[in-house]
Amino acid sequence: MISTRCRLSLYPWKRHHLLRHSQQKCLHTSLRLEHKYFVTTPIFYVNAAPHLGHLYTAVLADALTRWQRLVGNETLFSTGTDEHGLKVQQAASKNKVEPLEYCNQVSALFKRLFENANIGYDDYIRTTEPRHKESVQWFWERLDDAGCIYKDRYEGWYCVTDECYLSEDEVTDSTDGEGNKIKVSVESGNPVTWMTEDNYKFRLSQFTDRLSAWLDSGVIHPSKFEAMVRRWVEDLPELSVSRPSDRLPWGIPVPGDPSQTIYVWLDALVNYLTVAGFPGKITNWPPDCQIIGKDILRFHAVYWPAFLMAAGMDPPKRLLVHSHWMVDGFKMSKSRRNVVDPVKQMSTLSADGLRYFLMKEGVPHSDGNYSDAKAVECVNSDLVNTLGNLLSRCTSAAINPRQVFTEPSSRSLVQDLSRDEQAAFSQLNDLPDIVAEHYENVSIYKSLDAIMRQLNSANALMQHHQPWQLAKSNSASSRQHLDTVVHVAMETLRRCGILLQPVTPGVSDKLLSRLGISPDSRRLVNAKSAWPCESDLGPTTSVLLKRIDRQR
Ligand code: MSP
Repeated sequence: MISTRCRLSLYPWKRHHLLRHSQQKCLHTSLRLEHKYFVTTPIFYVNAAPHLGHLYTAVLADALTRWQRLVGNETLFSTGTDEHGLKVQQAASKNKVEPLEYCNQVSALFKRLFENANIGYDDYIRTTEPRHKESVQWFWERLDDAGCIYKDRYEGWYCVTDECYLSEDEVTDSTDGEGNKIKVSVESGNPVTWMTEDNYKFRLSQFTDRLSAWLDSGVIHPSKFEAMVRRWVEDLPELSVSRPSDRLPWGIPVPGDPSQTIYVWLDALVNYLTVAGFPGKITNWPPDCQIIGKDILRFHAVYWPAFLMAAGMDPPKRLLVHSHWMVDGFKMSKSRRNVVDPVKQMSTLSADGLRYFLMKEGVPHSDGNYSDAKAVECVNSDLVNTLGNLLSRCTSAAINPRQVFTEPSSRSLVQDLSRDEQAAFSQLNDLPDIVAEHYENVSIYKSLDAIMRQLNSANALMQHHQPWQLAKSNSASSRQHLDTVVHVAMETLRRCGILLQPVTPGVSDKLLSRLGISPDSRRLVNAKSAWPCESDLGPTTSVLLKRIDRQR
């Protein structure tokens, strides 16, 4: 709430920012009319309960979507569950329930987890929904009409766990738990079986040139994953895209041939078209950013764009590939029994605490190692100490008895702060652009580092100027000095709080509400311009997050 005490700003840079603010408003309004920024997560298998790796994919996508909203773009953000296939069918029968009942149960677990973790999706798609069946069958017909599908005999390896076909050099010898010799996938280590069956194939090999041209446009991020895709694209086999229905009843039938079920990956990939409204009213195409783990790169960077090209549609503009969370050096998996339960972690760290840790420690280009101790230390140090303490100090009754977002005097800014402190404070003006650049490069961890550096310098300034001592004096100069110190803390908190929203939406909301910043003043443009005047603080609590006790 801005009070009547408003005066002209004392900041030299403010005019410039106000101008940029109004220009940006126009730009965002026109963008809004044209296009929603479309972000997707992969849809999650329902053969087991969600684990931390799944939540990571979803948080990454959510943070990038929230960033777009912060910038001023409208968004479409989809997630959901992948419910067909042999793997799910087997999991249901192991649990002695019908496949759909089983899917309902596990899909609800993902949905609840995402809601508790503040994943602000617009659409939650399930591949067992009628709208999706319609979309998959329509898409199949488009591929068929384009002459890209033919019937043939498949003889080769199939991996049920990965739901994929493998060539001879993609499998290797191994042993199972009882010491029996088995064949496994080289890439995933999962067991494979030999299969001979009639099915439909897709003319994948025809797409080498078009896929290479698409890769040339730099769609794969980080670029280290591109080389691998190029190797696959150079030597493309034809791809089986259906399985006999008597072997795989749990899926969508091939239109006009119910003896065959559509391959689960083709079925699953079409979810992105379903959420965009195909085959009816199309709201957004192509997706702006599709988030995937590196284990499903081939499906998204080869099969998916080839299917779309065959159907005469645009492939995605960007594929963002992330690495994996490991535990003690191994990828999290049910079979290895090293799965980290995100629900349990959130009960200790809070939703925002866990989100923050995942975004600070997870980097797209290399695997991260999860440890409870590291997570607790990260949340306590950054969110509780650095952010939380700064807020409770500058809003405490002792230091801030009038409960206001103070306005500094220009004289005090120059006289009372050292040159280094003035320089550190004015770096706040560059912070939004720095953070924006890191989001553009999907280096969210770097944006969090930059924000924490800024908060640390405000904490150091508080420590140096000891506002609790200044508050004891009645002199006008001490009061001005105090207002300036409190202002630096609050202005740093306001701008950092705005910039933290994509990662810690709950904590940021508490922080900004306490500072009295209304919801319509929390956009990127607001972080770019200086707070114009003295205003009242909000009434809510100053405790953002309680210190986490490791014993819990
Ligand atoms: N159903 C397919 C995707 C179909 S999309 C058309 C699938 N599902 S999954 O449940 O196995 O994986 C979903 C996402 O979780 C993938 O992006 C995968 O990389 C990610 N993760 C699974 N384990 C992971 C880690 N240990 N660490 C980080 N992400 C991981 O694949």
